[in-house]
Amino acid sequence: MSSLRVRSLVKRFGGLTAVNGVTYTFPERAISAVIGPNGAGKTTFFNMITGIYKPDEGEIELGGRSLVGVKPDRITERGIARTFQNIRLFGGMTVLENVLVGMHIHLRSGVLGTLLGLPGVRAEEQAAREEAYRLLGAVGLQELLNEEAGSLSYGAQRRLEIARALAARPKVLLLDEPAAGMNPRETAELTALIRSLQEKLGISIILIEHDMKLVMELSEHILVLEHGEKIAEGTPQEVRTNPRVIEAYLGRSAAEQEAGL
Ligand SMILES: Nc1ncnc2c1ncn2[C@@H]1O[C@H](COP(=O)(O)OP(=O)(O)O)[C@@H](O)[C@H]1O
Ligand SMILES: [Mg+2]
Repeated sequence: MSSLRVRSLVKRFGGLTAVNGVTYTFPERAISAVIGPNGAGKTTFFNMITGIYKPDEGEIELGGRSLVGVKPDRITERGIARTFQNIRLFGGMTVLENVLVGMHIHLRSGVLGTLLGLPGVRAEEQAAREEAYRLLGAVGLQELLNEEAGSLSYGAQRRLEIARALAARPKVLLLDEPAAGMNPRETAELTALIRSLQEKLGISIILIEHDMKLVMELSEHILVLEHGEKIAEGTPQEVRTNPRVIEAYLGRSAAEQEAGL
């Protein structure tokens, strides 16, 4: 129905092939993960799904309809929303306003009508606010709705990004390194939050994440990329014991040790 599929997906940057022939079907109404060493092509993969980059080759389909060549706004309308590896919020706007911005595609009267305070807009605006309060409650930010987004802690900003993405009422939510920069307590809270969002909203969640504890706890299915290629896919147990995956990760830590990291 609303399953997300990619086939033979390729993205090149000059001489570099960032994503090289990846084929995968994400299970519906489940949590999946895309993992792999830095530079594996994970973010580029999300950037193609969300229309930021057009693939050089291959197909992306949501519910059987192609997303290739569709603009990012339209892809959001079709039901895919995301957060970014580098947080993208309106730092000078309040927490509440950031979520209302994420909702604009569903407001008939549009942002302009809202700003001008046109009659007839009020009821719709009130409903939007109530939905925003609900979303902020769901991510634990209800106490902070009038704070400037830029003044929030890192962990809170990441949760606000999730609320903003959910404001678009997606069928599929993509999270690019949602636990990056979080301490273990924040990561544990985030893990519980992601699970509860999936269960309550019945959406598909696809996350890129380096925190293996979070990945293994949450994901039903995992896609593993290395140098732009799919090197493994399967359940956490299958992936964890896959020799190519072990090699990709051990190889990386050996190299890091050599570099003195
Ligand atoms: N806009 C771009 N222009 C040129 N090279 C890029 C661009 N975006 C990503 N890359 C390169 O593509 C490769 C994959 O990057 P990325 O998708 O960000 O990896 P990951 O998210 O897995 O760490 C890297 O070598 C990166 O430098
Ligand atoms: Mg990345």
